[in-house]
Amino acid sequence: MATAAASQPVAQHMPRHVAIIMDGNGRWAAQRHLPRAAGHRAGVEAVRAVTRAARAMGVQALTLYAFSSENWRRPAEEVSGLMGLLKFFIRNDLAELVRENVRLRVIGDYRRFPADVVALVDDALGRTAANTGPILAIALNYGAQAELVTAAQRLAARAAAGAIPVEAIDGDAIEAELETRELPPLDLLIRTSGEQRLSNFLLWQAAYAELLFVDTLWPDFGPDDLADAIRAFGQRQRRYGGL
Ligand code: FPP
Repeated sequence: MATAAASQPVAQHMPRHVAIIMDGNGRWAAQRHLPRAAGHRAGVEAVRAVTRAARAMGVQALTLYAFSSENWRRPAEEVSGLMGLLKFFIRNDLAELVRENVRLRVIGDYRRFPADVVALVDDALGRTAANTGPILAIALNYGAQAELVTAAQRLAARAAAGAIPVEAIDGDAIEAELETRELPPLDLLIRTSGEQRLSNFLLWQAAYAELLFVDTLWPDFGPDDLADAIRAFGQRQRRYGGL
């Protein structure tokens, strides 16, 4: 569904791949004297609006940090609430994603989630597997350092077995092992809520990404904010170390 902001090109230089650290659900709820769960519920509404807007604007890949490998440290009730919202999102939005030709992907070790969540995610991945359109990647139990450790171990094992020379372990080889290997290079990484950290998200992929930290709390981040972010991206000069 296109919004007024999304109905026309927002920038001359569109980012192909946008990633978002969706932060601030708890503070959004606290400001309203609501339980944290209400903030996460409002966060799902923002997910829906922003994923639609990203598609309408022509973003080829959107990666959302829904659950980090460190989020297990939260109270069990909050963790299970987040799992419930993930199930709610898949049950409610999968038909639209299939219809809109979205390729759903998951990065992270989601198999550590409860069996019913894993089954639902697997079903959703299967149902969008034949799609050919924009990618919606959801980070579930994702941690960038673990992703890099796994990549290093796989390549080292191949080298130790004599299948590849050590010199073949270069940047391209590492990228080919990352969970984002199918996605375009990361162009724009947004974090909401005023925090200025990467929090173990897409550390390799962010090497040349433009970083944008906005004060808006995630539940308040909407299509217009995404359009603003893309406009800001369009005004940045990317030099990749050159002049
Ligand atoms: C950060 O806010 C947000 C999260 C840890 C979870 C993000 C999850 C959602 C938006 C809902 C589920 C996602 C999908 C894709 C269905 P916080 O709780 O850390 O906020 P705070 O820093 O203000 O406490």
